[in-house]
Amino acid sequence: MSDDLRERVLRLKRERNAVILAHNYQTADIQEVADFVGDSLGLARHAQAADAEVILFCGVHFMAETAKIVNPDKTVLLPDLAAGCSLADACPAGELEQYLTARPGTYVVSYINCSAAVKALSDVICTSGNAVKIVKQVPADRDILFVPDQNLGEWVTQQTGRAMELWRGNCYVHVEFTHASIQRIRAEYPAAPVIAHPECTRAVRLLADEVCSTERMLDYCRQSPAAAFIIVTESGMLHRLRRELPGKTFIAGPTELCACNDCRFMKLNTLEKMADALETLQPRIELPVEILARARAPLQRMLDWSR
Ligand code: 13P
Ligand code: SF4
Repeated sequence: MSDDLRERVLRLKRERNAVILAHNYQTADIQEVADFVGDSLGLARHAQAADAEVILFCGVHFMAETAKIVNPDKTVLLPDLAAGCSLADACPAGELEQYLTARPGTYVVSYINCSAAVKALSDVICTSGNAVKIVKQVPADRDILFVPDQNLGEWVTQQTGRAMELWRGNCYVHVEFTHASIQRIRAEYPAAPVIAHPECTRAVRLLADEVCSTERMLDYCRQSPAAAFIIVTESGMLHRLRRELPGKTFIAGPTELCACNDCRFMKLNTLEKMADALETLQPRIELPVEILARARAPLQRMLDWSR
């Protein structure tokens, strides 16, 4: 059944002249049919460079919106429109607008995990892969508001020394890892470096040997002489690591109360929904022209500043 589905996706991809972009948190079967698998930054770059007529985006809504913003003439499909993000939900554009009305002149650095409407209100966008580099380039005389992830924002301040006002949002998956749960697994595998995503809380980041974006995790593990690693991020990353580095062992960082390192939004996408999306060319991402235009400038600034 799943072989048939896979064949159907690949056939429709050819017929529709589509490219499949998938985030590192997608399930193994989706990663296996994708043309490119990567982190938010790599996906934004590939979306901009895509010359296929259709981009089938296997990730969450803000990522597919980003693809549409950087390459607006393409048809951008998201297999399930309900694939949201707790971080994007934490910062409604109306609330950000109110904040900025009260504090004119604030320089808004937005983590890419936000809606197109929030991007349209921002000065520059960043991802976990380039946040430090981006914040270092913000003019020194400007007050920065960092939205919507307080954990990533706090980590960036630690790395750069740059004070920032932090929006109170978080990733509901990454805050499930706790100091105690990571300490326990570290005691079990003392030789394995701990690698954590910067969306984790400070208490967890303190235990990590490396804090980095999903793509950088791959580089770190490739270069490290260690044979085993504890990976503190969403579960899909383990497939990417095992596929690319088959000689090494990857241990999922445990959460405290449950085995809940699956992002329920990322996991809404399935091969079946991908095939249906390619068949019907729905659901597609449509954005008001004005939002598209206003959101493009801060995204382009990010791409320019992180070259
Ligand atoms: P990366 O940009 O590191 O892939 O992270 C995206 C994300 O949603 C993390 O939860
Ligand atoms: Fe959003 Fe967290 Fe899911 Fe990433 S893992 S898409 S930040 S809810």
